[in-house]
Amino acid sequence: MYRAAVLTVSDRSFRGERPDETGPEVVRMLEEAGYEVVSCGIVPDEREEIEEALRRLAGGGEIALAVTAGGTGFSPRDVTPEATLAVCERMAPGIPEAMRAASLEITPRAALSRAQAGIRGRTLIVNLPGSPKAARENLAAVLPALEHGLEMLRGGPADCGEYRQNT
Ligand code: MTE
Repeated sequence: MYRAAVLTVSDRSFRGERPDETGPEVVRMLEEAGYEVVSCGIVPDEREEIEEALRRLAGGGEIALAVTAGGTGFSPRDVTPEATLAVCERMAPGIPEAMRAASLEITPRAALSRAQAGIRGRTLIVNLPGSPKAARENLAAVLPALEHGLEMLRGGPADCGEYRQNT
């Protein structure tokens, strides 16, 4: 079982002006997929604060997956992708590519998410859009692939299926 963290990025939820519905939804999906969610938090759309939270989550090495929700759009305060780029040592572009490809089947507005994914230390960081619906649809698109990535990242027993049979 991998440990996961969920970080909601929203000025309004941080100030208590809007209940955070997306974070709990992401927690629910991760737990249903077998993750142990050990941390949930809300930060405002401030690049420094997002970076600091991501550095802290990835710092201990216990958290395999850190998922952010929100701040991936075009508004001037949407800076989650920039914070993610700043803290990641290696990017994993296939994850947002897969999220956007699946989401474009649902809405053309999927093209407006600037979500990123990447690796800091032994933690995979994945950005999701902020609405509960968009977060759910994006996470569902990549959730089945994440476990194998985490096995590779953390040296677990990767099941390489056909690759193993052919070699
Ligand atoms: N992806 C899916 N699957 N479903 C959606 O409804 N909404 C889009 C996009 N991705 C959406 C989606 C919209 S309208 C925006 S503006 C971007 O995600 C960014 O959302 P954010 O600013 O809340 O992060």
